[in-house]
Amino acid sequence: MIGAPGQFGSDLMRVMAAWAPVGLGHADVEVADAAQVLARLEAVAPDAVVTCAAFHRVDECERRPEEAFRVNALGARNVAAACARLRALCVYVSTDYVFGGEQDRPYAETDPPGPVNVYGTSKLAGEFLVAATAPRWLVVRVASVFGVAGARGKGGNFVETMIAKARAGERLRVVDDLVMSPTYAADAAAVVAALIRGGHLGVIHAANAGACTWFEFAAAIFRELGWDVPLERGRSSDAAPATRRPRNAALASPRLAALGLAPPAWQDALRRYLVARGHLPGVVGADRG
Ligand SMILES: NC(=O)c1ccc[n+]([C@@H]2O[C@H](COP(=O)([O-])OP(=O)(O)OC[C@H]3O[C@@H](n4cnc5c(N)ncnc54)[C@H](OP(=O)(O)O)[C@@H]3O)[C@@H](O)[C@H]2O)c1
Repeated sequence: MIGAPGQFGSDLMRVMAAWAPVGLGHADVEVADAAQVLARLEAVAPDAVVTCAAFHRVDECERRPEEAFRVNALGARNVAAACARLRALCVYVSTDYVFGGEQDRPYAETDPPGPVNVYGTSKLAGEFLVAATAPRWLVVRVASVFGVAGARGKGGNFVETMIAKARAGERLRVVDDLVMSPTYAADAAAVVAALIRGGHLGVIHAANAGACTWFEFAAAIFRELGWDVPLERGRSSDAAPATRRPRNAALASPRLAALGLAPPAWQDALRRYLVARGHLPGVVGADRG
């Protein structure tokens, strides 16, 4: 596992614990360094490599496109090339931001991508390079991830940011014109494990079912917590300079549905996350198995 200490990586490590996965962090391997990637993976001799490594601060990717492509595209190719050499399955974690957002229904795996910013373009390039390089590959697209570990690259996750701001009594203005499908890292990790176990290949979407705006997501967090927090509706154009983001990045997964692996609704996932993080009372460990 590359990016193992990260938000998604740590849940993947937990879900796959029975396989005794080897977890590599950024200090262990730099995905942009092809020779190092091969050397590190050769030492492990894996059957499968999952890479979560990414440069995913969307605004910063816009300012530093070379770095975005170095990590998200060439880094993915380096991992895929090592997988090809070692005859290992290559699993690349990707994003809803490969889509353009102009479609009025959720995006399925068969819908054509069309990213509108550098981050999405570099991740799509990573997907293509994985497909072109590794003989056996799986691209798993997630979206708006919230996991117990919090995103290292983003300094936490949206749920924790909302809770911290509300506790601090800050004014909360949240964008209400961008639609997405929240992804609970624990649920998506279970999907990835099931896909690997089942030998499934190709592109697959692993967000929780349903979609909402960021404003609606924030409102749901406070509703679950029973907190009366005043929320203002913002617009994506409020931030300056505004990086283009897909207006509708909702994901659907006919493939997972057909396999009987579709994750539950995001509202259900949010409730379990709040319990797992200790924000809500619940059966300790109920979601950690
Ligand atoms: N977070 C989201 O909302 C979201 C949404 C859609 C898709 N995704 C995708 O999901 C995946 C995992 O995201 P996450 O939320 O788990 O992020 P995360 O917590 O930031 O984890 C990323 C991991 O990759 C490592 N890493 C970063 N750059 C690297 C490099 N050049 N070489 C080797 N390792 C590197 C990071 O280490 P350091 O922190 O030490 O650098 C960290 O351990 C990414 O591929 C991302 O594109 C995330």
